[in-house]
Amino acid sequence: MMLAHRWRQLCRAVKWRRQVRLAVSTQLLLLENPDAFGIGTLDAADEARLVELVRRATAHPGPIVEIGTLFGLTTRLIAAHARDGQSVVTVDNFCWNPFGLPPALHETFVRKVLCTELAAGDVTLEVADSAAFREGYRGPVPALVFLDADHSYGPVRDEIAWARDLGVPIICGHDYGVPRFGVTRAVDEAFPGGVAIGGTVWSWERNA
Ligand SMILES: C[S@@+](CC[C@H](N)C(=O)[O-])C[C@H]1O[C@@H](n2cnc3c(N)ncnc32)[C@H](O)[C@@H]1O
Repeated sequence: MMLAHRWRQLCRAVKWRRQVRLAVSTQLLLLENPDAFGIGTLDAADEARLVELVRRATAHPGPIVEIGTLFGLTTRLIAAHARDGQSVVTVDNFCWNPFGLPPALHETFVRKVLCTELAAGDVTLEVADSAAFREGYRGPVPALVFLDADHSYGPVRDEIAWARDLGVPIICGHDYGVPRFGVTRAVDEAFPGGVAIGGTVWSWERNA
């Protein structure tokens, strides 16, 4: 009986081996980083800085765009400090989360977290790859773009270039100074005059 149960467990583990590997690696990350970084979101210093930037973005027309929704926690923070009627567009392809949730369940979870904002029309969730979203974007020039999706050099470089080409007045992102990411290199190359830093949030403002 016990052996049969063990055998069935093993078969299931083999069937779902890719997901099991992902769950183990994400669990290791959580065990080694039992803080906001481990769960992939902003810590208190990062949030305080982003709130300052969002408040400044209320002076500009256009929506606020977040690339990299994760669980929608920062999306809710942004929406809470945006101007009345200023929409927030958040973009995610649900390729990663720290709990190893499969993409469809990840999306379901996010829609639950954001249900009030989505129902009110304050937030729009775009389920898309960053590159596809940027390619297809035909909306007004955003007041602020917050970059927090793929943290490797090329994608961050391309996201910054997109926002600059559009003329976005406040461009910012997460995880500046984290050595294993390509964020710092992409930001430093794009803004050789330097950027402002608060926590690990970097920002560039057109009129700073
Ligand atoms: C670090 S988390 C975002 C954290 C979130 N901004 C917060 O503050 O709570 C990164 C998110 O970006 C998404 N992501 C990664 N690469 C992406 C891509 N190329 N296009 C769209 N989303 C992507 C992942 O699915 C993940 O949900």
